[in-house]
Amino acid sequence: MGREGQPGSVHEATDRRNLAAHRDQARGNFTIEINTLIAASYHKHIGFFKRHSDLLAPFGAKVADEFIHPKPPGHILVMLQTAKALGLTEDEVLRQPMLPGTRAILDFKRALLWEGTVAEWWFSMLTEEPIGYWARAWFKALTTHYGFTREQAIYFSTHEEADLKEHDEGVMGHGSFNRTVMQRILEDGYADVREGYSLEYCAFAAVDLYGLMHRAAYEESV
Ligand SMILES: [Fe+2]
Repeated sequence: MGREGQPGSVHEATDRRNLAAHRDQARGNFTIEINTLIAASYHKHIGFFKRHSDLLAPFGAKVADEFIHPKPPGHILVMLQTAKALGLTEDEVLRQPMLPGTRAILDFKRALLWEGTVAEWWFSMLTEEPIGYWARAWFKALTTHYGFTREQAIYFSTHEEADLKEHDEGVMGHGSFNRTVMQRILEDGYADVREGYSLEYCAFAAVDLYGLMHRAAYEESV
């Protein structure tokens, strides 16, 4: 129903366009902001990684992966390619304010990174591996049922690969790297958390907020 309650009105078409933009710019803004937080975690948590210096190389490769694979600006580039195939402009993806429900996960993770402990942040990163499986399902759906070429759906194939598989000549799958860091945190006794922020809570709240992001975008789109 259009803004003035008239099906098929100009307002309805405009609303639909805005809602589609809301849905897909959520993913666009998420991509940019989460990658920036991941890069910032290299600086914020360097003390822990000095204790586990064998992880510095795979951590550096993971951060670089987000910004340079397959070429700069990395996953932002492939996100914009897929957004364009969905009919969105760069301005819509990058500059439109996010829906509150879609930005909640970013603000939760930002708070854990800057105000929380090393363990709180890394346990919240448990969401990255499932994104690989989610991206695989999206890639299959878009290329099988919606007429997308493999190139148009590249954001999703890139994330299936990056999050689940070793790629680009030896870069660990991001999910495997995160699990390795979580294991070291536990083995090292570096698992301090603030009151009200257990490791389980940080992991499951991140999962719930990831779900909220998708639900909020969907509800704005229907
Ligand atoms: Fe990415």
